[in-house]
Parts: sequence; C-alpha cells; structure tokens
Amino acid sequence: MIRNLDVQPDEEILEVGVGTGLALPMYPRHCRIVGIDFSEGMLEQAKQKAAEHKMGHVELHRMDAGAMEFKDDSFDTVVAAYVVTAVPDYRKVVSEMIRVCRPGGRIIMLNHFANDNKIIAAIEKVLSPITKNLGWRTDLALQTVLDGTPLHVARKQHVNPMRLWALVECVNGKNVNGKTHINGAKNGNGAATYAHINGTRLSEQASGQALG
Ligand SMILES: C[S@@+](CC[C@H](N)C(=O)[O-])C[C@H]1O[C@@H](n2cnc3c(N)ncnc32)[C@H](O)[C@@H]1O
Repeated sequence: MIRNLDVQPDEEILEVGVGTGLALPMYPRHCRIVGIDFSEGMLEQAKQKAAEHKMGHVELHRMDAGAMEFKDDSFDTVVAAYVVTAVPDYRKVVSEMIRVCRPGGRIIMLNHFANDNKIIAAIEKVLSPITKNLGWRTDLALQTVLDGTPLHVARKQHVNPMRLWALVECVNGKNVNGKTHINGAKNGNGAATYAHINGTRLSEQASGQALG
C-alpha cells in the first residue's frame, strides 16, 4: 500500500499508531516520517527496526493519537493503518489527524470498514462485541467516520481479495480559501454541498459521496 502512495520528495508524513514499524521500510527515503504510538513496547520494536534499516529519515515518539503534541498543519500526509477501529474513541483520533495535517494534505486510512452489503454488515455488527474484546471493532462504517469531517475520499481501494480491508485516501478539506466542506452537510435541496479545493486530486465523483 505504501508503495502506491506516490510520496513526493521532502514530504512530511505522520504515521499514527505505527506499532512495530512494519510499514516503515516501505516508505521512500526521500521523505521525512514521524511515527507515534501509545505503546512503549511497540515503539521499542519500531526503533529497533529503524536502527536495523538505518532509517535516518524516521523519528519515533510515544504519544496519544487522540491528543497529539504537534502543531496544526504540521504534516503533508497522515497515515493510520489498522488504527481507527482499534482505538476506543476514533472521533478524537480522526479529528487530531485532520488538525495536524495541512489543508489539502492527505489522510490515509487502511482499515476494515463495515461492509456495503447489508447482510454482511449485519453479521459484522453481531461479531463486533466479540472482536472488541480482541481490540478492534467490525461494525464501523467509513461514512460514519467521515460524517461531520472535512475529509473527501479521493481513492478507495480494497487491498485483499476478500475485500475485507480498504485503503482510503482522503483530501483534508479544512479551511481552504476560507471555505470548509463538512462531510454530510446538505443544501436546501438535500444535495451535499462542497467547497472548491484547488490543487488537490479530489474528483467530483469521489467527493463526499456515501462510500461504504
Ligand atoms: C492494530 S495495531 C496497528 C499497528 C501498525 N499500524 C501496523 O499496521 O502494523 C494498532 C496500534 O495502534 C496503537 N494505538 C492504540 N491506541 C493508540 C493511541 N491512543 N495513540 C497512539 N497509538 C495507539 C497500538 O499501540 C497499536 O500499536
């Protein structure tokens, strides 16, 4: 997945919930990566990996993704792999990801989201209390995560043959030219309203539409 991200030279990337740093060796060395995780044990392994691979472009910090210590607009891209459904309060984490990502930057989530198919979604809902005990939930829909945020889906790609996980690349539509489109906002005709965002890869078809 990381290899498909078209990372630009000197791009500033934040990986939230970096874990043991599995993805770190996959980023190109021409960017700067900051990885955070709440777990000291996970971070220790990520640090070892960074040292083994001589990744001088990687910085690792212990930090709560729901209350990050970074300034607003610090990063071009914020990545969260298998995190949004693993944290107790995904809203806090997503809101922090939006805050620390610059306007027009990218927010990328790799995750299982509740299925579009109503029957499978119902099964996922039943399973969720069980999987929650194991540390993640199966009943969270992508649209629920996006509702009320200024995120616009630019790309959604299933990353395994069973379509269980999806890579969702969003454009951060906060405060661009003084306008923000909040996902789920409707105009008088019941149609979604959108801000114009220059210089992004946002497509009309992809912007803010209900995506499962
Ligand atoms: C399922 S693991 C995914 C790890 C990694 N992204 C990967 O793909 O291998 C979720 C990670 O999120 C971290 N995490 C959970 N809650 C967090 C929080 N509030 N702040 C930062 N990290 C958190 C966990 O410690 C864990 O490393």
